[in-house]
Amino acid sequence: EKLIIVTIDGPAGVGKSTVSKKVAAATGFTYLDTGAMYRAVGLFFQEASVDLDNISQVREKLDMIEIELFPATDEDSDVGVRLCGEDVSEAIRTPEMAMVASKVSAIPVVREVLTKIQREYGTRGRIVAEGRDTGTVVFPLAAYKFFLDAEPRERAERRFRQLKARGEEADYQELLRMTIERDNNDRNRLVAPLKQADDAVLIDTTALDVEEVVKQILAIVNG
Ligand code: C5P
Repeated sequence: EKLIIVTIDGPAGVGKSTVSKKVAAATGFTYLDTGAMYRAVGLFFQEASVDLDNISQVREKLDMIEIELFPATDEDSDVGVRLCGEDVSEAIRTPEMAMVASKVSAIPVVREVLTKIQREYGTRGRIVAEGRDTGTVVFPLAAYKFFLDAEPRERAERRFRQLKARGEEADYQELLRMTIERDNNDRNRLVAPLKQADDAVLIDTTALDVEEVVKQILAIVNG
């Protein structure tokens, strides 16, 4: 059987996670949240007060990291993450940790290590990988690649509604500012920048709801 990998990349807040989870559920594939890994490394480095400009310190700490993803408890939740045995599923999901993840994700050796782990998850195929570089770098030979995009205002609004729905504090202007800053970091870094793979299908989700995006993807994957 051919190894089937679906990649879904795009900027922050575009709805990748929600869409990817639904595509995984509909196909029976495993959902691989690569962003969760960058967040976990960010948390680890922050707790250990790692100097991100000190490459030998970064390498040394990276060697100590053990990351394990586990399925969400229900379909509305994010994937769970254990960092060196400790459940950090909630700790990594704050806007602050997203920004820290964006900083550590620009460090080449961090990407090298996480990309290797991500490819191991993909060796048997049947996965839906979600992130920034899953179609360009992690799985360049993936069978089905998608790139989701939407205007920054729309993405910040979605994040705002998501946080409010969870009963958390949210400041729209601050979310918009952070969304734009994180996109700039992710698009302009030297290693594995956020960009659409040449052979990825672009879906502009600005005016689409989740179900419509999922439908478009499934039509191609099941086609
Ligand atoms: O997708 P999520 O918002 O959880 O990702 C957090 C951060 O991790 C992103 O802003 C990006 O900097 C980084 N990331 C990455 N490559 C991936 C997935 C995430 O650089 N494949």
